[in-house]
Amino acid sequence: MTEIIVVGSGTMGTGIAEVTAHAGFSTTLVDVDTAALQRGMERLLASLRRGVEKGKLSAEDEAAARSRIRFETTFDPSGADILIEAVPENIELKKQLLSSVGAKNEATLLATNTSSLSVTEIAAACVRPDRVIGLHFFNPAPVMQLVEVVRAEQTSAGNIERATELVKRLGKTSVVVRDVPGFATSRLGIILGMEAIRMLESGVASAADIDTAMELGYRHPMGPLKLTDLVGLDVRLAIAEHLTKELGPQFAPPPLLRRLVRAGKLGKKTGEGFYVWSGNDAQKKPTV
Ligand code: 3HC
Repeated sequence: MTEIIVVGSGTMGTGIAEVTAHAGFSTTLVDVDTAALQRGMERLLASLRRGVEKGKLSAEDEAAARSRIRFETTFDPSGADILIEAVPENIELKKQLLSSVGAKNEATLLATNTSSLSVTEIAAACVRPDRVIGLHFFNPAPVMQLVEVVRAEQTSAGNIERATELVKRLGKTSVVVRDVPGFATSRLGIILGMEAIRMLESGVASAADIDTAMELGYRHPMGPLKLTDLVGLDVRLAIAEHLTKELGPQFAPPPLLRRLVRAGKLGKKTGEGFYVWSGNDAQKKPTV
């Protein structure tokens, strides 16, 4: 059976591990932080349980998916066919992690789940850069259909094929994009998110009304501010800073975003961002 290691038990890593286990892959979710791993495990198991409660998953399928997942604080990449890192959006961290793995196992496909960082730069730090690729999943990973396959300058054609085949086996759809800052998705998504925050700052409308405008006027499933809460204000701030550096001031994060991040109001995961959250339920705030 194909062995997949997912490193990082935050929102994305946990969601990705759920997807791979559900699709039939033997999966190990790894985090060096025991408390973070425990939280990730609870979220993942709760998500599978919800699938059963909603009738989307049979009890047997849930049990089978559970039996395919292990939760570990260390990992040995030598037996892994595919390693997907989903550690925080910090290029040095990603380089360090993937370069250490690459030295140990030359057969493993090394995937980075980054929103905007240079996969080419990450690959350049690795012993076998031809095996490095970007696999950009979307939140919530179990629901979202797209995975961007990001081709580093060094990625071999064979490994692009391996990655697109994997995405297909996960039941998702891939688009192959060149390694440019923000790829095909974050580049547009961040512009919308940052502009919505600037509009809120300048009093154009309330957060809920800005979101409703895009949900009803443009049929977005979720307005840009609620989406920023879902993704994490810290995550979006890091992407915006990176894209500002790479592409220009149109991506500059507004002061309000920095203020909320400094206050620890990171969105759904901390219970408050542009909304107050209770589970999946977002309540309006009088002001932000
Ligand atoms: N895990 C598993 N399933 C989930 C879920 C989760 N975290 N959240 C929602 N779902 C499922 C629900 O169970 C429901 O399934 P059902 O229709 O079979 O009952 C379905 O999704 C719809 O959920 P709800 O009815 O509760 O609510 P919505 O209809 O509002 O859908 C949503 C929720 C799917 C999150 C939808 O609002 C949406 O698509 N929002 C936009 C998400 C988006 O744009 N994500 C991309 C963010 S950018 C990103 O991730 C890039 C990264 O690099 C930062």
